[in-house]
Amino acid sequence: MYLRAGGGRIIVLLFLAGLILTGVAVAQVNNGDVSCYHCHPKQVNEFEKSVHFNKNISCTDCHGGDIKINGTVISINVMTKDFGGSPSKLNLTTFCSKCHAQVTAKYETSIHWEKVREGRTGSASCIDCHGLHNILSSKNQDSLTHLENIPLLCANCHENQTKMQAWYYGIKTDRFDTYKKSYHYKSYLSGGNVLATCSDCHENHDTRSEDEPGSAINPANLPATCGKTGCHPGANNVYVYGGKIHEEQSVTLFFIDVKSLVTYFYIIMILFELTFTFGLIFLGITSGLDIRRKNHD
Ligand code: HEC
Ligand code: HEC
Ligand code: HEC
Ligand code: HEC
Ligand code: HEC
Ligand code: HEC
Repeated sequence: MYLRAGGGRIIVLLFLAGLILTGVAVAQVNNGDVSCYHCHPKQVNEFEKSVHFNKNISCTDCHGGDIKINGTVISINVMTKDFGGSPSKLNLTTFCSKCHAQVTAKYETSIHWEKVREGRTGSASCIDCHGLHNILSSKNQDSLTHLENIPLLCANCHENQTKMQAWYYGIKTDRFDTYKKSYHYKSYLSGGNVLATCSDCHENHDTRSEDEPGSAINPANLPATCGKTGCHPGANNVYVYGGKIHEEQSVTLFFIDVKSLVTYFYIIMILFELTFTFGLIFLGITSGLDIRRKNHD
């Protein structure tokens, strides 16, 4: 009896020793993350699959804080020294610019950043396009910015009338649909080996409106945009290349995207029907009361 209990105890002790040893080993490999793992396993697990892992980057490079483990005690103190917490959408770029200064500078000339600065939190920031703790290299097929995933990434916002606030701004929300009908996408589907995707024409980071002089899709710059190596070198006929990119144009009525009207029509219809139904129920109840009161009298 006693011996068996002792054996059990030894096994438990060995198990614990194993745990401590592997714990130490983990601590040596990715020292920084362990003190956060204790309370934020989800973020650490994601981070360990990301492009940033094993590049001598730790949680504290972005968030600040003190990751020195005090003996074996992991405490909330890790989040005190210089801890920056979660950035706002407006401060987010300061996290990335430490190491990606050039890309950030480009992004900060884009319409996406301009709208973030104006307080439109629905506009695109670094993490909307790249993910957060799970950022992958674009070469990885699972990356949001992998060539074949880009149309869906952009469509997520650009086909969404509510996100684009199309009603107020007259923004086209048929970009994915019209792109799918375009020569570029069709030729790719039928076996062409080059996919000209949204960001090839609109740039990855300094995406701008058609009417801005610096925009890649400004008519004056189309020859250069279409003429990129591997595309249509020497392109100079703006009419040919600038004409039917998004095969069909948006149907607009007084600068309002007609497609967006459908959404608003349904919202108004649903509100109307709800008011009507509840109104009837309310009338039913109150008139029922009335009749009963009259019967009492
Ligand atoms: C002892 C547990 C514990 C440890 C260790 C810990 N955290 Fe936290 N962390 C918390 C709690 C609790 C919150 C608050 C959660 C909430 O507000 O929902 C939090 C919140 C955060 C937030 C969000 C703050 C905000 O402004 O919303 C960030 C970022 C964060 N932790 C990063 C870290 C990093 C990086 C480390 C390692 C250096 C770390 N934490 C270690 C418990 C911990
Ligand atoms: C490349 C920069 C970067 C690194 C490295 C990083 N974070 Fe974050 N983290 C962010 C940003 C940016 C946000 C804010 C996200 C938002 O606004 O939605 C954030 C948010 C958080 C939050 C708040 C909850 C959430 O998920 O939005 C926690 C907790 C957190 N990070 C923990 C960690 C931990 C733990 C590590 C290390 C494994 C880590 N972070 C590494 C950039 C980073
Ligand atoms: C402490 C420095 C550091 C910070 C902060 C940082 N990165 Fe990185 N990032 C790197 C390094 C190093 C690589 C790997 C480069 C390589 O493999 O060539 C990388 C790679 C990337 C890649 C993949 C590039 C590719 O090859 O396709 C993306 C996307 C990226 N980072 C986005 C971000 C974003 C978004 C932020 C802010 C939330 C950020 N990074 C913050 C250092 C950093
Ligand atoms: C509108 C979407 C979008 C936004 C916003 C965005 N990116 Fe990108 N990013 C992309 C795309 C698309 C690629 C290119 C993928 C490829 O290689 O085809 C890319 C590429 C990158 C790369 C790889 C190297 C390079 O120079 O191309 C890094 C690093 C990067 N982005 C970081 C950032 C950072 C940091 C921010 C914020 C300051 C940011 N991105 C904002 C879509 C975006
Ligand atoms: C998180 C949402 C989001 C994502 C993802 C996104 N965008 Fe945007 N985009 C916006 C918003 C919001 C605007 C601002 C619209 C406005 O108010 O003019 C905008 C504006 C634009 C404009 C200028 C449109 C105009 O009418 O002036 C272009 C071009 C554009 N985006 C292309 C892209 C491309 C290409 C991608 C993918 C690489 C992309 N966007 C990804 C939200 C997004
Ligand atoms: C082959 C190049 C090309 C591709 C691929 C492409 N676009 Fe465009 N895009 C253009 C050109 C040129 C214009 C301006 C003329 C027009 O409206 O058709 C434009 C216009 C736009 C506008 C309106 C910009 C403004 O200032 O009014 C948005 C938003 C947009 N595209 C988003 C997208 C999205 C999202 C995708 C991918 C699903 C995409 N584009 C794919 C070339 C392209």
